[in-house]
Amino acid sequence: METPEITPMPRIGDKAPSFTAVTTQGTIHFPEDYTGSWSILFSHPADFTPVCTSEFMTFASMEEKFAQANCKLIGLSVDGLYSHIAWLRTIKEKIEYKGMKNVEVKFPIIEDITMEVSKKYGMIQPGESSTKAVRAVFFVDPKGTIRAIIYYPLSLGRNFDELYRALIAMQTADAFGIATPADWRPGDDVIVPPAGSCGVAKDRMDGKEPMKCYDWFFCTKPIAEDEVMKAVLQK
Ligand code: BEZ
Repeated sequence: METPEITPMPRIGDKAPSFTAVTTQGTIHFPEDYTGSWSILFSHPADFTPVCTSEFMTFASMEEKFAQANCKLIGLSVDGLYSHIAWLRTIKEKIEYKGMKNVEVKFPIIEDITMEVSKKYGMIQPGESSTKAVRAVFFVDPKGTIRAIIYYPLSLGRNFDELYRALIAMQTADAFGIATPADWRPGDDVIVPPAGSCGVAKDRMDGKEPMKCYDWFFCTKPIAEDEVMKAVLQK
């Protein structure tokens, strides 16, 4: 019996697997071309489909917001370049969604007809579809390390506010050496990691910081929203 080809899926903390690909904005070398900025590499099942269309309109209209947080977007599907181009033109010329119209998608979309990239990134999940990529989202940091991965099935459109929230939360964790609790948004209290785990606040119990400890493992402190945004947004 033939052994099925198994590509290990990249995991959080791994270096993002390298590839060169043709996109709607020319050839890219990932993640090398993106060194120094965050990137979100995401896949969609197919061009000319309604859920994907609503997602692209939403993501494209937030592109500037992501760019201000030093994050570039890169789309991918197993369709070809001319399909991508025709679909994006149709979106711009004809589609209205939630008050958005004339939406121009300026970020690159990878053509992956060979499925080389989508297989490398575990975006083809045969239980869901063996001919289309699932809705995968890879957050890659400025050093090319995968920091978060989210997968959605074909029928479920993504929440792009959540993707932005996750990006800002990870950048805040990096900038302040803290962690972010459930449903955290800029301006909410953050979690100070307990002693012995990642990045301990040295003077945690001496009252210098306005920190609240409810028990040894659960300490919070405030970071003002403007302080967070000053740390993460581009000058
Ligand atoms: C969509 O984007 O609408 C879609 C794509 C593939 C399967 C189901 C829905």
